[in-house]
Amino acid sequence: MKAVILAGGSGTRLYPVTIAINKHFLPIYNKPMIYYPLSLVMLLKIKDVMFVVNPSDLEMFKNLFGDGSKLGMNIQYTIQHKPNGLAEGLILAKDFIGNDNILYMLGDNVFFGHDLVKIMNQAREDIEKNGGAYVFGYSVKDPERFGVVEFDENQNVISIEEKPKKPKSHYAVVGMYFYDSNAVEIAKNVKPSERGELEITSVNEEYLKQKKLKVKLLGRGFAWFDAGTHDSFLEAGEFVATIEKRTGLMIGCIEEIAYNNNWITKEQLLELAKPLEKTDYGKYLLEIAKEE
Ligand code: DAU
Repeated sequence: MKAVILAGGSGTRLYPVTIAINKHFLPIYNKPMIYYPLSLVMLLKIKDVMFVVNPSDLEMFKNLFGDGSKLGMNIQYTIQHKPNGLAEGLILAKDFIGNDNILYMLGDNVFFGHDLVKIMNQAREDIEKNGGAYVFGYSVKDPERFGVVEFDENQNVISIEEKPKKPKSHYAVVGMYFYDSNAVEIAKNVKPSERGELEITSVNEEYLKQKKLKVKLLGRGFAWFDAGTHDSFLEAGEFVATIEKRTGLMIGCIEEIAYNNNWITKEQLLELAKPLEKTDYGKYLLEIAKEE
């Protein structure tokens, strides 16, 4: 399995903050926003990642991650010239995806919760065996701001709609999806929505039409933030700070995960920690390297 992470878009809901800088570089507490979705990909032990980025941000992304080898990964980039919508990322990543199944992640989503990786791995195994697509539902107060999934008592999906005025359930579709490689062809046939975007929800609707869309719910024990507005951005940062200070453990620390995955050696971890040693982040990495 490979992963595609969407990190383009114009971030207008965070203006004026994001007039001159892409939101994915902004800090959610002590690390760039983009570390969080990447860390989840890494926790699933997926090494091949493609970022979808705006032309003006490519150099900055390369400064941050390079070709991924520092993390023991293979990171590639594809350029999205205009924010034409989430489904366009599938088309742009066509050659990278090839015949593989993919985890498709939104760059501004932050997750935390016990057994999240286990639940995601169950979905992954299902896709690897049976194909199709998986979405994840999370109960929210304001479902009209998101994709919304409706399902029956056996968790069979009944409908999926993008930002409906009258939501049919309280379950928002969060920003991670598993797809088989057919997603690329499906995306190619998607027509722009009323807001002029190729919606990821239209891809999911097509899977539903083919009876190949499944849903898993993330219950009360999970935290999910779409950090794309001023309030949710702040809330995500406060949440991460609270948990990290309480537990002494970091959320979304990509160097730690690379080390735990045995993708990098202790020496490589120390090398990564060195330029950061004046910060708590760097000290945390040094502590990890000391542990046996
Ligand atoms: O966060 C979950 C929601 O994300 C889902 O519930 C919705 O169904 C889905 O459409 C999406 O809605 P948003 O309106 O919040 O998407 P947003 O425009 O914030 O973009 C999500 C991410 O994708 C963000 O990291 C920027 C990136 N992006 C966005 C667009 C429109 C791109 O890389 N390219 C794009 O063309």
